[in-house]
Amino acid sequence: MTQDELKQAVARAAADYVAQTAPAGSIVGVGTGSTANFFIDALAKIKDRYAGAVASSEVTRLRLERHGIKVFDLNDVTDIPVYVDGADEIDAGLNMIKGGGGALTREKIVAAVAREFVCICDASKLVDVMGRFPLPVEVIPMARAHVARELVKLGGQPVLREGFVTDNGNVILDVKGLSITDPKDLEAQINQITGVVTNGLFAVRPANLLLLGTADGVRSMR
Ligand code: A5P
Repeated sequence: MTQDELKQAVARAAADYVAQTAPAGSIVGVGTGSTANFFIDALAKIKDRYAGAVASSEVTRLRLERHGIKVFDLNDVTDIPVYVDGADEIDAGLNMIKGGGGALTREKIVAAVAREFVCICDASKLVDVMGRFPLPVEVIPMARAHVARELVKLGGQPVLREGFVTDNGNVILDVKGLSITDPKDLEAQINQITGVVTNGLFAVRPANLLLLGTADGVRSMR
């Protein structure tokens, strides 16, 4: 199976899971990235059961709308039973690195509101210890150099993502070389740096369920 076929398989499994668990008329949280795109396509087939969706990026909003799925402003929504999104890395504790697509802040906000986070990945994303994938950090532009110096003090090697501006008008530093043995602690430490909007560690609020696409089928992990 190709990587795309694995992503499609987990996306379909996630749509089945949403159909079984999210009440009719509710609002579904939708992530960003190539795996989330396959999920949007699968969600479109059952869209009439739901009032609509909340999008974690402008790209996702456009794709949802192209499928005729109503997109709600998060401020008008009080309950999201389930949020479905991909990850760049995930460990056995369902802590994740996200933000390869640059949508980490909105993803973290929608995830914070959701009752359940379902992560959908192909098998290559499951790791013992996170950190091979550079950790994305969203930064207010005027704080870029200050935040970079602070990240170096934490042992990282930050690199500006050239030519990229987030949906919130900020920049991204991709940080290599971090030792992520305590993801919750590192997430909090980086978020304490003045000028950081948020970082791509999702450990304070990890996923509740991982649907992992493997050559032997979709594995569920809690
Ligand atoms: C977007 O900002 C990211 O958090 C994505 O969820 C993550 O990069 C996974 O993307 P893919 O499904 O394209 O690998």
